[in-house]
Amino acid sequence: MSEKKTFYITTPIYYPSDKLHIGHTYCTVATDAIARYKRLCGYDVLFLTGTDEHGQKIEDKAKEAGVTPKAFVDGIVEGPRGVKDLWKLMNISNDRFIRTTDEYHVKAIQRVFRRMYENGDIYKGEYRGKYCKPCESFWTESQLKDGKCPDCGRPVEDASEEAYFFRASKYADRVRDLLENTDFLEPRSRVNEMVNNFIKPGLEDLCVSRTSFSWGIPVDFDDKHVVYVWLDALFNYITALGYENDQYGDYKRYWPGVNIVGKEIVRFHSIYWPAFLMSLGEPLPTKVYGHGWLVMDGGKMSKSKGNVVDPYILAERFGVDALRFFLLRTFPFGSDGAFSNELLINTINVDLANDLGNLVSRTTAMIEKYFGGTLPKTGAAESVDGELLAAAKSLRGRYEAQMEKFQLHLGLDEVFKTIQRANKYIDETAPWVLAKDESQRDRLAAVLYNLLETVRICAVLLTPFIPESCEKIFAQIGAEESARTWDSAAQWGVLPDGVTVRKGEAIFPRIDAEKELAELEALREAAKKGASPIELEPYAEERVDFDTFCKSDFRAVKVKACDAVKKSEKLLRFTLDDGSGTDRQILSGIHKFYEPEQLVGKTLLAIVNLPPRKMMGLESNGMLISAIHYEGGEEKLNLVMLDDKIPAGAKMC
Ligand code: ME8
Repeated sequence: MSEKKTFYITTPIYYPSDKLHIGHTYCTVATDAIARYKRLCGYDVLFLTGTDEHGQKIEDKAKEAGVTPKAFVDGIVEGPRGVKDLWKLMNISNDRFIRTTDEYHVKAIQRVFRRMYENGDIYKGEYRGKYCKPCESFWTESQLKDGKCPDCGRPVEDASEEAYFFRASKYADRVRDLLENTDFLEPRSRVNEMVNNFIKPGLEDLCVSRTSFSWGIPVDFDDKHVVYVWLDALFNYITALGYENDQYGDYKRYWPGVNIVGKEIVRFHSIYWPAFLMSLGEPLPTKVYGHGWLVMDGGKMSKSKGNVVDPYILAERFGVDALRFFLLRTFPFGSDGAFSNELLINTINVDLANDLGNLVSRTTAMIEKYFGGTLPKTGAAESVDGELLAAAKSLRGRYEAQMEKFQLHLGLDEVFKTIQRANKYIDETAPWVLAKDESQRDRLAAVLYNLLETVRICAVLLTPFIPESCEKIFAQIGAEESARTWDSAAQWGVLPDGVTVRKGEAIFPRIDAEKELAELEALREAAKKGASPIELEPYAEERVDFDTFCKSDFRAVKVKACDAVKKSEKLLRFTLDDGSGTDRQILSGIHKFYEPEQLVGKTLLAIVNLPPRKMMGLESNGMLISAIHYEGGEEKLNLVMLDDKIPAGAKMC
């Protein structure tokens, strides 16, 4: 038996700095459709996705949320409605999921960094440049667009630090040759931009370490530095196969593969990624494909702009397959596309409900009505059949030609042209007229069989896009496993004589566009109003007199030590300097909001003349003062932090 050919494909690993949106869903669904297509063709496929969890942006977000970076990313990746949940909902068939905080990846990156240092491609120097914080990118003056980040258009800041550099300049000629003279990067329209903007002006060495923050992979021979997040991230594509680690053992089997990425990160994937691999003498990806953006209100949908669409809401209202289909049918994969709810509903109604849904339901309904559900042996071909049969028989070839180029929308276009041809064939042959004439029973059966076979072939080829709906179609048209294969999609006459159909519920019910749009608009308004609904504690009705208030002794306290109380989820124990010369112990139920190590050394505010209280067997002498509010119904707590210049024991009045 010959071994199956392998095919490896990846999505970018997304930043878990916030919930993912429809833009990420678009890329992952497209990659999933390609992976499923290749499996259908008989390849041994490995499909990888994951999350890019280090870097300053994540560190800042976690600080804002008052939790550790790891706790923060855990919530977004593993938590309810998090990244993994979203891919499960969207029926994504990834074989692996990598998190860059996974131990095996961390160790592998340290080895990779050391190897490049030892071979002289990484060296120590000083970095001065313009830094875009949201993109984690350094730029030179000449790369800026109107003084702003050329990727996202936001302001950049001056930055300088001791840093390690990667000798990208050494690989400039080889990378240029790769870009210009091979089809490594697609669509080819992206090649000029890379060569003209980044290589021709002189490819500068890339800064690959940071000292200004700590949430990253430490350089193991100089742990003041953490590895630049892009070097850490790009190698995920091979550490997830076992490169420089023992977690997996199929690097040789699957690499090289295809990297699907959005156009704004083509620079990293088509210049630095191959250069890194060249430095290590490893094979380059077979292809980097830069897809376009989903835009809304004229701009890229992005977490930091806040103009995002929630895939959960759409999938729940319209169905997972309808959403998958819409994304891949409507927007040419290499270009930008403007998202709108109108377009979504229109695509569902026209393509899925009218064209595909109607073809399936009319065909099965007529077989039930005229033949009690089981088609007799057929014959009686006529010339009117020719065009439909030719279209259906050649469909797989035309579809394959587009799919191999990742032109997913054109692959779908071929299928839908055939579906439309079949619907026209119903009108041309008018089965309801044939049904009135007993002598035409053979012919009627032949017409319905032709329709059924066309539906079958189309459903096989639609499986990568709308897998669950195709299962339902196969069940309705009586297609066994052997009639659902790639081979069978190139054959005519696979459904047997005497095939039995089972008419089921409509697979894609028509949507009342006006009603849905009004409801979606109402949801959007509500979300806008409630986007960050800050709620406050009610103000106190009762007044306290001034003398009573003055009895409260508020003091500045410095945190000498802080630890979690054993067996308590909530309590932190503080050892405080209150200026009296004796340590003060206060217990506070704020572990949900802070990790102990975040608070050591801070100057806080405490009321110190409350009666002592015992909690979990420990005595608390006072209370730390916090500010509390609610966001989206969730309690937010911030300790009142004082200027560190204020000495311990200073009285507040
Ligand atoms: O860039 N339209 O992560 P990220 C289409 N961690 N696709 C979109 C999109 C939109 N509006 N918004 C996002 C990173 N995407 C890095 C990647 S890889 C080694 C490291 C998709 O969370 C698109 O594929 O910002 C884009 O490239 C990716 O999400 C960026 O996700």
